[in-house]
Amino acid sequence: MAAIVVGDHIVLIGMMGAGKTSVGRRVAEALDRPLVDTDALVEARTGRTVREIFEADGEAAYRAIEADAVADAVDWPEPAVLAAAGGVVLYPASRDRLHDAGTVVWLAATPATLAGRVRPGDHRPLLGTDPEPVLRRLLEERHALYEELADEVVVVDDLTTEQAAECVLAACDRPEPSAPRRSS
Ligand code: S3P
Repeated sequence: MAAIVVGDHIVLIGMMGAGKTSVGRRVAEALDRPLVDTDALVEARTGRTVREIFEADGEAAYRAIEADAVADAVDWPEPAVLAAAGGVVLYPASRDRLHDAGTVVWLAATPATLAGRVRPGDHRPLLGTDPEPVLRRLLEERHALYEELADEVVVVDDLTTEQAAECVLAACDRPEPSAPRRSS
């Protein structure tokens, strides 16, 4: 694991249910780093749950708060593992920030896998009562964004949390340094 760049964050991206928080927790433990979860930052900033913000103010308002949370996350004062909520890729400025923050690993999975891992009634109001078609549509909309942002991809469908964390750690040993870039 010698090549993990000191000072850079490890950024986990991907859809709801991909395991960003649970895998991130294990990666963080292995590297003795903090886990910084953008959903938790949103809730800490506002004193409200993600669901409350969606229901009271709507998705656009939520996305603006989420973009501020991404800015806070990348400015974390020590190298961290960032679990970036599924929708952060929708904001070009957030994509740029995450790209420049370190190594970005996409935890990829099929809609069926994702649907089997999400629980209704939690911090994911977009999913409603029948998550799989929603996840399929959102993945179609976001796939190219995850692909463009990712330095590495770990396909998690057949992996346990521990195995996925091992793959993330291995993936972070490989990437070439990437040049700063700006979204159009
Ligand atoms: C969302 C993902 C959720 C949460 C919100 C919206 C999305 O976070 O931010 O429900 O649009 O993909 P997780 O990816 O951590 O579940």
